[in-house]
Amino acid sequence: MSSDETDDVLPKEDEMFKTKKDKYKVIALLGKGGYGAVYSVLRLSDMEKFAIKCEKATAGKKVLLMDCNVMKGATQIKSRHFCTVLDRANVKDRFNFIVMKLIGKNLWDLRQDRGDGKFTMGTSLKAASQCLVSIEHLHSFGYLHRDIKPGNFAAGRKESNEHHVIFMLDFGLCREYVKRAEGKDLRAARTTAPFRGTTRYAPLASMLQQDQSRKDDIESWLYMVVEWTSGGLPWRKLKAHDREKVLQYKQDLRTKPDILDDFLFLCPKKEFTRILKYLDTLGYYAVPDYKFIYFCVQHAANANKIKDADPLDWDPETPYMGPIEQPGDGKVIDLEVEGGASTKDFSKRNAKEKDQSDETRKGKKKTSGSPNKERTSSKN
Ligand SMILES: Nc1ncnc2c1ncn2[C@@H]1O[C@H](COP(=O)(O)OP(=O)(O)O)[C@@H](O)[C@H]1O
Ligand SMILES: [Mg+2]
Repeated sequence: MSSDETDDVLPKEDEMFKTKKDKYKVIALLGKGGYGAVYSVLRLSDMEKFAIKCEKATAGKKVLLMDCNVMKGATQIKSRHFCTVLDRANVKDRFNFIVMKLIGKNLWDLRQDRGDGKFTMGTSLKAASQCLVSIEHLHSFGYLHRDIKPGNFAAGRKESNEHHVIFMLDFGLCREYVKRAEGKDLRAARTTAPFRGTTRYAPLASMLQQDQSRKDDIESWLYMVVEWTSGGLPWRKLKAHDREKVLQYKQDLRTKPDILDDFLFLCPKKEFTRILKYLDTLGYYAVPDYKFIYFCVQHAANANKIKDADPLDWDPETPYMGPIEQPGDGKVIDLEVEGGASTKDFSKRNAKEKDQSDETRKGKKKTSGSPNKERTSSKN
């Protein structure tokens, strides 16, 4: 069955769904992937809007459990950069869903809305700082994202006065990198690991089938920030099936000054080169110096005369009122165990599902025009 045929099981506009807590009415489709889709909904008890993420009952990979665990972890550390999960249920033989805070447009769409296809330097650097802080938050409670890209970050909604706050989304490819029960040691690097992520933004490690670590989420962050600032990466015309050529480009950045120059078109060259060179010194077990990277971004902002109050491109009339916060020191913190089902229990169950579905997905690659839609990855 093609994914279009199995999409019949997904919610339709105006359809109503019940959970133990409430009733929800579907408003509109917000985004769609191979596993299912995301919709805006109305909570009927108080007519408030939320988002639901649905995963088809037939989906090979169960991604919602990981989404749910990660967002719960983020709630525990009280990060502003993650949605809260409020409810969950399933519709028999059709799909499972979680109800979460509704936010606004993702950063891919916000850039597409711009006539010239790029953000101003001020917006790029402010968004870069917020995304870096959110990555540090995610790492601080023990997860790697492994699919950092513009479609997985979104601004909050104007209606809730959060449109200057950037939220991290989509935890389906996350992986725990700590052994929680054992003094928070890191899990040992696997000798090889299947490709995970999106070709355009994937770190070298993932493209070389190495196990990913904290530095790799930041490498993807850098590709994303360069794309915002420059309007396009040198490998933008290559598709998912050209992974080898994209890998070559990413390696050439490190050795060929003209490729590096082209890559950093319109970007703060000195500071971004420094970040790239710094990331390349880090190994699998290294704790990235998030503050150093953050200060490189601040330095770039100062050098380009960007002020804290300069507006964001998607709200040009209002002075910036988003969070100005530094990342932490990268220390890994414990999560509370809740209701007998700890994050560890969840991750064990997830690991089981992962192993099974990895078998069934081996060798499959998907391609598509937009890297925002690209799912070259398996969800594990
Ligand atoms: N809570 C939310 N509020 C508003 N839009 C959302 C929300 N969650 C996801 N979306 C939108 O749906 C898209 C897909 O969601 P995501 O979680 O990234 O799933 P996937 O990429 O696996 O399909 C996002 O890029 C975003 O535009
Ligand atoms: Mg996504």
